[in-house]
Amino acid sequence: MPLVTTHQMFKDAYEGHYAIGAFNINNMEIVQGIVEAAHEERAPLILQVSKGARKYARHEFIMKLVEAALEITDVPIALHLDHGDSFELVKACVDGGFTSVMIDGSHLPFEENVALTKRCVEYAHSHGIPVEAELGRLAGIEEHVSVAERDAVFTDPDQAAEFVERTGCDSLAIAIGTSHGAYKFKGEPKLDFERLHEIEKRLPGFPLVLHGASSVLQEFVEECNKYGGNLPGAKGVPEEMIKEAAKSGVCKVNIDTDLRLAMTATIRREFHEHPENFDPRKYLGPARDAIREMVRRKLHVLGCAGKVKSE
Ligand code: G3H
Ligand code: 13P
Ligand code: ZN
Repeated sequence: MPLVTTHQMFKDAYEGHYAIGAFNINNMEIVQGIVEAAHEERAPLILQVSKGARKYARHEFIMKLVEAALEITDVPIALHLDHGDSFELVKACVDGGFTSVMIDGSHLPFEENVALTKRCVEYAHSHGIPVEAELGRLAGIEEHVSVAERDAVFTDPDQAAEFVERTGCDSLAIAIGTSHGAYKFKGEPKLDFERLHEIEKRLPGFPLVLHGASSVLQEFVEECNKYGGNLPGAKGVPEEMIKEAAKSGVCKVNIDTDLRLAMTATIRREFHEHPENFDPRKYLGPARDAIREMVRRKLHVLGCAGKVKSE
């Protein structure tokens, strides 16, 4: 099956009260681990590529890796640009075969975010490609942050509705307490579900996106540290909260850090247990398996496992 766009995936996810997992890819083993998991779990899949990943692996290699993935599975796969930061990058990905793009103007003043997003939407839509945009800032949130401070960074529900209406974007990444990386919360993890429901009310049927959705599972942090890593205790978003969000209008959930931790913990363990080894396959193979198992776990958390029917 060729690459698909996210249109049908999001429609099914919205109606079925689950979310699609969007996982970041950087090299062959990561692509293989993720795709094997989606295939085994019969889950629709979004493979996403950041600007940095595209630079690291090169556009040509990404396309060939994804083309190979499509040959080993029949589950629908969309190839998505994660956090596009310019019209030029969005255009290059649309022209170069991606089937979904994100323009992230969340750091810009509202009107500038609207203008940049609109320009990307016009170009992508003229090529049949959907656009994810972002409104609100994904800041690491401290427990004592006041309501006024939250209002300043979290997505405003009225603005979200106006933004979607004016830009014509196809999905919207919102800020309700998640943030990128391993250090998401200083205090207890908390998502603003009330705000999520207010956004949903104003945008009925519209797909929302949650970034920074890793749970930073302690066993993987500990495993990294056991073998020479130096990660301070970190708190991610508990999987129960992700599960709850996935039942709402959130149709796409971005996860990268949890895969990085699983991969790194495994490689560190392999180096520790087999210091004599210098065959990369002996540590990249187990790392690929660890990614596959982590993604399988996440597909169940998101509720998308089993949603692709076998022929
Ligand atoms: O949110 C960003 C993703 O985790 C990708 O990160 O820019 O280091 O590739 P990156
Ligand atoms: P995490 O690395 O926090 O899982 O976030 C991933 C993400 O949002 C990619 O866009
Ligand atoms: Zn992100």
